[in-house]
Amino acid sequence: MSTHSGGSHLIEIDTSAPIWDRFFTVAPLVLIGTTDPDGAPDLAPKHMVTPMGWQNYFGFVCTPAHSTCSNIQRSGEFTVSYPKPSQVLYSCLAASPRREVGDKPILDCFATFPAKKIEGQFIEEAYLYFECRHFKTIDGFGSNCLITGEIIAAYADSEVLRANEIDDQELIHSSPLFAYLAPGRFAAIDRSNAFPFPADMKK
Ligand SMILES: Cc1cc2nc3c(=O)[nH]c(=O)nc-3n(C[C@H](O)[C@H](O)[C@H](O)COP(=O)(O)O)c2cc1C
Repeated sequence: MSTHSGGSHLIEIDTSAPIWDRFFTVAPLVLIGTTDPDGAPDLAPKHMVTPMGWQNYFGFVCTPAHSTCSNIQRSGEFTVSYPKPSQVLYSCLAASPRREVGDKPILDCFATFPAKKIEGQFIEEAYLYFECRHFKTIDGFGSNCLITGEIIAAYADSEVLRANEIDDQELIHSSPLFAYLAPGRFAAIDRSNAFPFPADMKK
C-alpha cells in the first residue's frame, strides 16, 4: 500500500461535536409512513436508511421525539416509499413542523394509496415501496435510535425492475435515482458504471 503523501493534506475534524455537516455523503431518501394515534397517516423523510443485511430487513435512524418513532412503537408496522427525483418537493414538505395540536396539515395535499398487508399509506408516483413489520428498535446512539423492520411486502414500478432484456445502464438512465447529498443537497443519478468486482468475489 502506498503511503507517499503521508496524509499531509488531511485536516483532523473535531469529534467533540457532530461531524456530519462538515462534508457531503451520499444517502438514499425515503418517506416512512406510519399512523398517528387519531388514525391520520403520517409521512416523514429519512435519509439515514439502509438494508439490514442481505435478507429482507430494512432499517433507519430516527429521533425518538418524532411521531414516526412512537407510531411504530404502538402499531408495530410502517411503510417505505422511495420517491423519484421529480418528487423532491414531497420529500421536503413531509418534514414540515407539526402544529401545536400535533398534526401536519400539509400531508392533506399528498396523494397517497393504502398498503395491502398492513395499516399504512404510500405516496403516489414513487418508484419502490415496502411494507414492514417492526422487528427491533435499538436505542442509545446518542439521542437517536435505529428502527428496523422485516419487509413483508414489496412493490416496484415496472419501469425500474431489472430484467434480462434491459441493460442496467439504460434502466437507470430512463428512470433516474434520487440521491440525498447530506447535508441539504440532492442529485438525480441518471448515469452509472458497472462496478469492477474482483473475480470470484462472494457476498
Ligand atoms: C431531507 C431530510 C432528511 C431527513 N432525514 C432524517 C433521518 O434520517 N432521521 C430522522 O430522524 N429525521 C430525519 N429528518 C427529519 C424528520 O423526518 C422530520 O423532522 C419529520 O417531520 C418528523 O416527522 P414526524 O414527527 O411526523 O415523525 C429528515 C428531514 C429531511 C428534510
